[in-house]
Amino acid sequence: MKVAVLFHLLGAVVWIGGMFFAYMALRPAAAALLEPPQRLPLWTATLARFFAWVWVAVAFVLGSGFYMVGVLAQVARIPLYVHAMLYIGLVMTLIFAYVYFSPFAALKRAVAQKAWPQGGAALNQIRRAVAVNLSLGLANIAVATVGAGF
Ligand code: HEM
Repeated sequence: MKVAVLFHLLGAVVWIGGMFFAYMALRPAAAALLEPPQRLPLWTATLARFFAWVWVAVAFVLGSGFYMVGVLAQVARIPLYVHAMLYIGLVMTLIFAYVYFSPFAALKRAVAQKAWPQGGAALNQIRRAVAVNLSLGLANIAVATVGAGF
């Protein structure tokens, strides 16, 4: 169970910390300093690398999470906050998969064709989805820690 918690937290730190950096630090800096022909390829190259790690992080979080749910189910009943964590985690995974296969794919296509307005629109969709997922991720840490007291 301890090793599962370790994998769980490593996955959550990489995923949520990465979203925090992208949204709170890189986004405002890139918007202030770069024009679309530089900014959009930078985002494509950055997100391609980050999203590859997010798939690994999702596998860590879900794999360890479902393993621990299995252990808890054998010992006793599964507490309410773990149910909440599970559903929030699954919603986050669906949002990430949507971003990866829809607006991120559109961003890559637009950048390859130097279609900056379309690329900007795709990046805007990614920004909104990441804002939601970052909020859900931070809230889920609260659910997993403070929520355990209820
Ligand atoms: C991004 C999503 C998630 C975050 C940020 C998160 C975060 C956490 C944190 C901080 C802990 C506390 C570790 C400790 O103090 O020992 C924890 C425990 C746990 N998580 Fe998650 N989690 C997420 C998703 C999930 C999912 C999807 C599942 C189920 C499939 C899950 C199942 C569990 C279980 C079973 C525990 C152990 C609870 C216990 O010891 O009573 N988590 N999680």
